Amino acid sequence: MTALTSLEIDRVAALDAAKAAGRVDDAFLARFDVQFPRLHGFFAELYGARPDGQQQLAETVAAASTAWNTRPLELKVRDAQREAEPGWFESERMLGGVCYVDRYAGNLEGIREQIPYFRELGLTYLHLMPLFDAPEGDNDGGYAVSSYRRVNPSLGTMAQLTELAADLRTAGISLVLDFIFNHTSNEHEWAQKAVAGEDGFEDFYLIFPDREMPDAYELTTREIFPDDHPGSFVQLEDGRWIWSTFYHYQWDLNYANPAVFRAMAGEMLFLANQGVEVLRMDAVAFIWKRLGTSCESLPEAHLLLRAFNAVLALAAPGMVFKSEAIVHPDEVVTYISPGECQLSYNPLQMALTWEALATRDGRLLQDALEHRHALPEGTAWVNYVRSHDDVGWTFADEDAGALGIDAFGHRQFLNRFYTGRHDGSFARGVAFQENPATGDARVTGTTASLAGIEAGDPAGEDRVVLAHALALSTGGIPLLYLGDEVAQLNDYSYTDDPLRRGDSRWVHRGNRPRDRYALRDDVTTPSGRVFRRLTKLVSVRQQSPEFAGNALIGFRTPHPSVVGYQRPGADATVLVLANVGDAEVQIDQLTLSGFEREAFDLVHDSDIDLADGIVLRPHGFVWLRVTPL
Ligand code: GLC
Repeated sequence: MTALTSLEIDRVAALDAAKAAGRVDDAFLARFDVQFPRLHGFFAELYGARPDGQQQLAETVAAASTAWNTRPLELKVRDAQREAEPGWFESERMLGGVCYVDRYAGNLEGIREQIPYFRELGLTYLHLMPLFDAPEGDNDGGYAVSSYRRVNPSLGTMAQLTELAADLRTAGISLVLDFIFNHTSNEHEWAQKAVAGEDGFEDFYLIFPDREMPDAYELTTREIFPDDHPGSFVQLEDGRWIWSTFYHYQWDLNYANPAVFRAMAGEMLFLANQGVEVLRMDAVAFIWKRLGTSCESLPEAHLLLRAFNAVLALAAPGMVFKSEAIVHPDEVVTYISPGECQLSYNPLQMALTWEALATRDGRLLQDALEHRHALPEGTAWVNYVRSHDDVGWTFADEDAGALGIDAFGHRQFLNRFYTGRHDGSFARGVAFQENPATGDARVTGTTASLAGIEAGDPAGEDRVVLAHALALSTGGIPLLYLGDEVAQLNDYSYTDDPLRRGDSRWVHRGNRPRDRYALRDDVTTPSGRVFRRLTKLVSVRQQSPEFAGNALIGFRTPHPSVVGYQRPGADATVLVLANVGDAEVQIDQLTLSGFEREAFDLVHDSDIDLADGIVLRPHGFVWLRVTPL
């Protein structure tokens, strides 16, 4: 074993390893010239002192070369298309959907049968929730992976997944899968070998003989799933302690060991060649640990992601990463760059949309759009109204403070409001991971239930549409939680299931609501009305080039309940004005005097005269094509 040496020596060693593994073609070599120095730099910082650093690096490169050699031709063609148009995901035609395979369609074949519907909806991106082999029973909705190379047999086979990816591609839909690389399930082969102390696997996880180190780490780490276990460790049967950030059966990998990086890169390359186009990088903030820190979002977490990014760029150059960092907004953006994660969830916009609907005050959201929305070129937000996870109030305390809002008290209010414990609340959410020690909690619920439809609030449908109108128009890939487009309500039956009772996120993960889908063309029903209004917005977005990209300029009105912004395009600008309040708002002519009088209402297909001002109904919004003077 040799530690990392100079770039040139390690380069030769890596290339030799790649050649020993098979052919090294010119296309690979050209990318190698660009990516190897990056990868070497990351390895030097992460693993410079390790005796096995150079060998693991060389083996990683060899695996990338083999993956490229075996990459199916149609995927290489797709790579070439993406490389020719690197900003493909910034198009106004992008629309994402997300669902659980079993809950939405039974199995992979069922998902394939839904492709005509996905096309009807206009999806170009489909995130299938974790579908890998996982422990029987409780497995965190598949986020405890026992094998990355095997599909959960109840859903289908890897061959079916590959075929599905191809069918989706033909339909213009990119397959998105999770890359759950912070942890594996306790049943994963590596986990079993690590616990057994098998040669080469002892250091794959963080296992300690007694409480000394766990206690030391826990002085500064936060509890993520306090309902499951306190702290960041769980005890093994033999008395030792293992790092486990999430559920007790999800064991964190030890990335301080370069063999773990090499092994995980191998799993990633395998998935890449099945036809996945976007990997959702799960729980990115947690992947590196250091004593005396929060063990979240450490600099090494970024180095690791960049190293994975370089490996992917070598072997599957058309693919991109999406970051799942549900953390402080200052940290969320640190994961987003072309060399790290090109896409990222936008948890701040999601949370502040709900915040604005509860308070009827759009100012926090307005500030966030003006100060926290900009992104580096070649990257994009994924904007969502809700996900399979809880709504967490991840806004910055200082942003709230700037508006005179006490952040702690405000979060308490929002939790009470969305769990229906606040007088006059329209929401029917459920609390998630309430921590009495810290007063912390998050909220679960479907969009329709959180927005008031379940409670019979007359403005519920308008709120559902308004929340989506924001996600569809601020810039980035809008992501629909499938079922929300027909106003799916909470499903409380999870409380009857002993395996799910303890995790209230199941309340918003109900089965595909067949009855609601059957009503989607019947506008005398909430499902039909919501569906018609949302699909109209989708089609307007698809036909409005101003919605491409991420450029956004705030547009202030004198009304705190109005959120306003401009989306400048090459030829025209779209002005969005959204009223999160319960009262009608008149935007006067003076406020609009920076634009030519003639404007076009994109949603209602009509000319309007800005000299008349604009009336925004309660929870109403406009998308106007305007010409700045
Ligand atoms: C991510 C997933 C969440 C899961 C956790 C652990 O945050 O979105 O559902 O519980 O990772 O894998």
